[in-house]
Amino acid sequence: MVAVAILAAGRGTRMKSSLPKVLHPLGGRSLVERVLESLSSIAPKRIFVIVGYQGEQVQQSLDRYPNVEFIEQTEQLGTGHAVQQLLPHLEGFSGDLLVLNGDVPLMRPQTLESLLKTHRDRQNAATILTAQHPNPQGYGRVFCQGNNVFQQIVEDRDCTDAQKQNPRINAGIYCFHWPKLSKILPKLETNNDQGEYYITDAVNYLNPVTVVDVEDYQEILGINDRKQLAAAYDILQTRLKDAAMASGVTLVDPHSVTLDDTIVLEPDTIIEPHTHIRGTSVIRSGSRIGPGSLIENSKIGQNVTVLYSVISDSVVADGSRVGPYAHLRGQADIGENCRIGNFVEIKQTEVGAKTNIAHLSYLGNATLGERVNVGAGTITANYDGVNKHPTHIGSRTKTGSNSVLVAPVNVGEDVTIAAGSVITEDVPDDSLAIARSRQTVKPGWKPKP
Ligand code: UD1
Ligand code: CA
Repeated sequence: MVAVAILAAGRGTRMKSSLPKVLHPLGGRSLVERVLESLSSIAPKRIFVIVGYQGEQVQQSLDRYPNVEFIEQTEQLGTGHAVQQLLPHLEGFSGDLLVLNGDVPLMRPQTLESLLKTHRDRQNAATILTAQHPNPQGYGRVFCQGNNVFQQIVEDRDCTDAQKQNPRINAGIYCFHWPKLSKILPKLETNNDQGEYYITDAVNYLNPVTVVDVEDYQEILGINDRKQLAAAYDILQTRLKDAAMASGVTLVDPHSVTLDDTIVLEPDTIIEPHTHIRGTSVIRSGSRIGPGSLIENSKIGQNVTVLYSVISDSVVADGSRVGPYAHLRGQADIGENCRIGNFVEIKQTEVGAKTNIAHLSYLGNATLGERVNVGAGTITANYDGVNKHPTHIGSRTKTGSNSVLVAPVNVGEDVTIAAGSVITEDVPDDSLAIARSRQTVKPGWKPKP
């Protein structure tokens, strides 16, 4: 039986941020969410998150994990002190406790599984995850007898120069036999450089302890500052892009593309340079996105092209073409085989199939039928300064260049709106609407001298 504790109470001073460290986003998920996700193949009996600095905010951010229990560590007196907070909650628990630092976000589920397996097979008091790190600076160093019989952990700042040469680092991930750990926890002391209670000292008191080296040291990168956050992002991006390419996605220039691991890219999509795909976006096969595009929380159908455009919280159905320089946002819903062209902004608007909005338009809070032709420069005036109002445009209607549709207004089907019209009243089906003053020409007119 396993319980899990995620240590997430620290402020993360080195981040120089008002946001708690574990809430910093990394490729679409916060650090602590990623730690939670790394438990996917373990099925723990209970999961505790130790919160402190802005604990309420951390707790709120995890409200989609209903099984998580939160424990407050009101003063952050160190990682050992954080684990001590579990004592009243795990009274009588006879299983193992997996302890994870909330700032180690790239752990693979298999790694945690193998840590647990070693721990159980050997019936250890503690098993700790370590790595041979090319740049161990800042991490606790782990000293062993032979290859993996644990001797001690020494924090970087408590290491002698000779000890600092040891490349084997403590990942901050441990498995403890709880009945043994719970006896040691009250005995922790603060006789170290930081004057804190260290969970690493508990490991030093226990026996038997073995270490498990992680194969890929990049997995255990701890995030303490912005530079490490960027390094983790790099590692994550390499993982995601390798996986995307392996599954049949073309990344024309992987280096200039960024992906979130919450997105879906179907096989035979082509992602052009300088394109970023985020959140819950789905790109279906045959689509070509970019160059120079940002797709956020949007569903892009099959065989769609998007060129130099921004699409957020929106849907584009099969066969449509978007851009260059279009902006779809706030539940724009574009039907099949539409053309959305240069400098067009569409917000909270439903567009029927085969409709063209090719140049210089703003459509907000509108519904458009099928095969509508929206002339260059057509604008919905949807906002009266207080409220937003709807515009309806029926199928096969054509709006002339530079028309303004003052909402609320209904324009019927098969309507033609003359160029330059300001439409303030409803227009019935099958009609022509002209709403502009007649041109006056004064022959022979000259300015007064
Ligand atoms: C810790 C380990 C170090 C290891 C490194 C791996 C200790 C003493 N040192 O160092 O050996 O190499 O992680 O990344 O454990 N936290 C609390 N309450 C506290 C203090 C910290 O919840 O009172 C949380 C933090 O929010 C963070 C985690 O514990 O998520 C680790 O704390 P941090 O201060 O970053 O420890 P390191 O100095 O990195
Ligand atoms: Ca850390």
